[in-house]
Amino acid sequence: MGNLITQILRFDSLPSTNLEAARRAVEGAPEGLCVVAGEQTAGRGRHQRQWVSPKDAGLYFSIILRPRFEQSVWPLLTLMTAIAVHDALLDACSLETDIKWPNDILVNEKKLCGILAETVETCLGRAVVVGIGINLTSKSFSPDLYGVASSVEDATSKSPGVEVVLAALVRVLITHYQLLQRRGGPEVIVGEWCARSSYATGKRIRVSENNENFSAITRGLERDGALRVETDDGEIRIVRAGDVTVVRPISV
Ligand code: BTN
Repeated sequence: MGNLITQILRFDSLPSTNLEAARRAVEGAPEGLCVVAGEQTAGRGRHQRQWVSPKDAGLYFSIILRPRFEQSVWPLLTLMTAIAVHDALLDACSLETDIKWPNDILVNEKKLCGILAETVETCLGRAVVVGIGINLTSKSFSPDLYGVASSVEDATSKSPGVEVVLAALVRVLITHYQLLQRRGGPEVIVGEWCARSSYATGKRIRVSENNENFSAITRGLERDGALRVETDDGEIRIVRAGDVTVVRPISV
């Protein structure tokens, strides 16, 4: 693909940047259109959860993509986005993060960013809206999540400028999207993801998938980004849609 032209639309408040981007995609908005809001009143998370999005406490961002590569590789869009968030936080905030499969960004094992990719049928064909929510300050999540959530401010003791994070994010997102579309791109993206994630290999996890729970050790990613795991009885299984939690050693 040629150079991707991005345009950023900024709003003080929106129900959800993903919804706004999807609405515009349906009407034919081009690939690369970004939507940013100061707050979301109906922010959406994975598994129909709510994404709490108070004013000026987080980066609430969505981008429209119109991938031309085979749909079997589309799950890599969220992995590619996680790589971009990881690199943007390193560039803009000198913050080293981990990626929990498939695409949660963690610091000290607490979630700092969530990614929600949604497909949408449009007059120009099927598009993907990739939404990113980054906790910039601890006001971005409710106090009952202190044990499991974190923010850039908590992790670095500095208040990050939203525009600095946004500029870095858009820059690296485009670089990695273009990389993904090149010949051999999927393999490169899987490799880059593994290089940034402690979950890629040798991590003891619990998987919950289709009402089934089991423990396993991670054994790398498939070509489409699915997680390969080895169960306790030595069976190799491929996890595509499950939720993964780390098993913490019990300290006595
Ligand atoms: C998750 O549950 O981990 C995904 C959270 C994704 C939240 C972002 S915030 C910007 C965009 N707009 C939404 O409504 N959701 C995503």
